[in-house]
Amino acid sequence: MNVEDMKKAVAREALGLVEDEMIVGLGTGSTTAYFIRYLGKLIMDGELEDVYGVPTSYQARLLAIESGVPVVSLDEVDAIDIAVDGADEVDPHMNLIKGRGAALTMEKIVEYRAGMFVVLVDESKLVERLGQKMPVPIEVVPAAWRAIAEEIGVFNATAELRMAEKKDGPVVTENGNFILDAKFHHIEDPLDLEIELNNIPGVVENGIFADIADLVLVGTGDGIKKMER
Ligand code: A5P
Repeated sequence: MNVEDMKKAVAREALGLVEDEMIVGLGTGSTTAYFIRYLGKLIMDGELEDVYGVPTSYQARLLAIESGVPVVSLDEVDAIDIAVDGADEVDPHMNLIKGRGAALTMEKIVEYRAGMFVVLVDESKLVERLGQKMPVPIEVVPAAWRAIAEEIGVFNATAELRMAEKKDGPVVTENGNFILDAKFHHIEDPLDLEIELNNIPGVVENGIFADIADLVLVGTGDGIKKMER
């Protein structure tokens, strides 16, 4: 199985968790994109009824509309039954790094509130310790980016302002903020670091998702492996 097949396999597996009348948090990224498309097909075929999606980004929103998933915003629903999203890294305790797609703030807002948060990854995302391969994205208020980038040094980390690829200058998030990518030498306690980073004035949210995933579906060469709470 190649990586795309692994992504498709976990996306299909997650569909089995969606029932009629559920409100579904729709994550961002290439793996969740398969899930959204498959979910839309089930809805269009009449196999799922009264299912609504709460998108975590414009990407998820546009894809949901195109695929036939009716979308609602967070302030229109009383609760989110299940949220499904990808991740950039997953450690053995199911702590995550997210935010490669710069949608981390809305992702965390939706996923924190979901009755069940399901993570879809291929096996390349598994790490022994968070930060091993990926930096931690930190969404910051633009005026504070430089001060925060310097303060991050206290944590034995270096931070870079994320630059856009098809726009001059920095990436601007859907909330109008900048992203710092912080490379940590060693993340000993993800939950502690998540809280400490969010305590810095000007930080909107950071991409450590500690202690929030309920189920991780990992696509491997030998099929799907489940990590559960
Ligand atoms: C979006 O901001 C990210 O958190 C994505 O959910 C994460 O990068 C996973 O994306 P892929 O499924 O494309 O790897």
